Amino acid sequence: MAKQPKVAVVGSANVDLITFNDVFPRAGETIFGKKFDLGFGGKGANQAVAARRCGASVAMVAKVGSDLFGPATIKNFESQGIQASHVRIAEGVSTGVAPIFVDPTGQNRILVIKGANEMLTPADVDAAAPILSAVDTILLQFEIPLETVYYTIKFARSKGIRCIVNPAPAQMPEFQAVAAADYFVPNETEAELLTGIHVHSVDEARKCAANLLTKGLSRVVITLGDRGSLLATNAGQEAISAFKVTPVDTTGAGDAFIGSFAVFLAEGLTDKEALTRASLYAGLSTTRVGTQKSFPTREEFEKEWKARGI
Ligand code: RIB
Repeated sequence: MAKQPKVAVVGSANVDLITFNDVFPRAGETIFGKKFDLGFGGKGANQAVAARRCGASVAMVAKVGSDLFGPATIKNFESQGIQASHVRIAEGVSTGVAPIFVDPTGQNRILVIKGANEMLTPADVDAAAPILSAVDTILLQFEIPLETVYYTIKFARSKGIRCIVNPAPAQMPEFQAVAAADYFVPNETEAELLTGIHVHSVDEARKCAANLLTKGLSRVVITLGDRGSLLATNAGQEAISAFKVTPVDTTGAGDAFIGSFAVFLAEGLTDKEALTRASLYAGLSTTRVGTQKSFPTREEFEKEWKARGI
């Protein structure tokens, strides 16, 4: 039997307040929405849950607030079988929250209020060093201070641990610091903000990825929603197609992609194989409502993978 992948996430945990509606209120207007869903989210936490559902052992390093959501978030990690001894409560601040608006096509608009995520510091990474040193892969996003992201990349590098950076939400990083990561995985809007190059097609993504490589990054993966993803290195570029699905809520699909990609890679698949599988895993997550609760189990994934004859 293959060795169980070990993944750690140093990242955010939020509570998602998801509203489903056809239209959005104008200034001063009150309207009725169609549906509401409350669930655990945050790009870091979502990637941890996706990796766990895909079969990895997972540890989370995060900060939550001293409010109703903080202890509930820790409990959620524990109930999913995620090591949460380094998910600490920051006194006097709120847990990160994300009001999310989903339109009838399943597309989302997300507002993140970072709260306790802002308090995750390099000292928290040092405190978790014994756990972090034992993993194959560390996942990072941009919902925590960038200083902590850079510090963790350096840590991963010094220990020879694979490091995947998801620059979400988009902020201009110090490219010299993130270039030490093994994979840099933005979506279209993030890639666009980081390069100033529009990404509305695979061809535009190719230009954008080439530009990102000039900044010293070694492997860039641009996720392109229903157009799949693009892998770019200095040796060449490869487009990976998406799978046909009927989306109802795309919230967290990018996180499902990255969390599952980390596991498939750690299981020894090539970049292309791991990206193809991650593409189906993310696609399947969009066919259900909610963030973490929409992520398939490994069993569900394998069943669908087989059914699609891949
Ligand atoms: O990627 C989706 C996530 O973005 C949501 O869970 C929300 O909390 C924000 O972090």
